[in-house]
Amino acid sequence: MTEYLDQYQIPKAAELLKKGKLVAFPTETVYGLGARADSDNSVRRIFEAKRRPSFNPLIVHVPTLEEAQEIAIFDPLSLKLARELWPGPITFVVPLKRNNTISTFVTAGLDTVAIRIPNSKIALSLLKLVGAPIAAPSANLSGRISPTLASLVLRNLGGKIDAILDGGRCIVGLESTIISINPLEILRPGGITTDYISKTFELNIPYNNEIKKIKAPGQLKSHYAPAASVRLNALSPLSNEILLGFGKTTNATLNLSETSNLSEAAQNLFSMLNDMDEIASNKGLNSIAISPIPNFGIGLAINDRLTRAAAPRP
Ligand code: TXA
Ligand code: MG
Repeated sequence: MTEYLDQYQIPKAAELLKKGKLVAFPTETVYGLGARADSDNSVRRIFEAKRRPSFNPLIVHVPTLEEAQEIAIFDPLSLKLARELWPGPITFVVPLKRNNTISTFVTAGLDTVAIRIPNSKIALSLLKLVGAPIAAPSANLSGRISPTLASLVLRNLGGKIDAILDGGRCIVGLESTIISINPLEILRPGGITTDYISKTFELNIPYNNEIKKIKAPGQLKSHYAPAASVRLNALSPLSNEILLGFGKTTNATLNLSETSNLSEAAQNLFSMLNDMDEIASNKGLNSIAISPIPNFGIGLAINDRLTRAAAPRP
């Protein structure tokens, strides 16, 4: 049984996490599936519930920079970026401190750790109440679409996790940007655009879309996949398709943003992909066509997710 908790039951959610239970909770990006990052058993249960390969490390969530510095080493550049961008939709991959309490299952044995402070009141008060670092991947089955609503978490993981804390719809709608510091590189485009980071801090940050070795398996070619197949840059639907539109589109079943607003499209992306999947299946159709999305700003992160949603399945 998965216990349903509303936003007034943060203390209950904290108590369950403290005891080592699995609790899904909202962040500004997507819902996370949380468990104590300092408990091997709890972290192992995350991998089981999601059917996630054990080589794919998790993000650790903390409420303050001081707590992040107890776990990992922040050099002057990462400190500067963290001070400006946290709390927010950005995850830093930084070297683990030698005497840390993080389970090796969290990092998949790497000597770096992915860490972030989410910009969500509910998540922050939950993390403060728990008082321990919380490992939390997106709260979906591995390879599937990340959930931006509590109902979508329950559809994926209901019965497999101990509780879900409902905080309504996630504001950003896409996962955090992942940046590694040494070497400086964007591992996953996300909630904070590369443009914004490079301009604000006068940095030249490469994004390596080539999958050399799996640094961030959110980079796996097929990921974020609905059950139906996906066709990108479609101007109109074929006979076996329904169209997910963007901007002024005729024949769209749903529209990511009628006013061509990329932030609105990001917020709608995952829940609409889920809805489109359901509509397609009810109509006996097997493919979702998607309008072209401009490839700048957060459009880059949207297209990154869509390309993986459309990739051939393993
Ligand atoms: O917005 C988000 O980041 C959400 C919310 C819940 O915080 N979390 C999330 O977690 O998207 P997940 O597990 O779905 O994606 C985490 C990504 C994975 O692609 C993983 O490979 C990468 O972070 N990652 C974790 N530790 C890493 C490390 N030490 N080095 C490189 N990549 C790492
Ligand atoms: Mg994920």
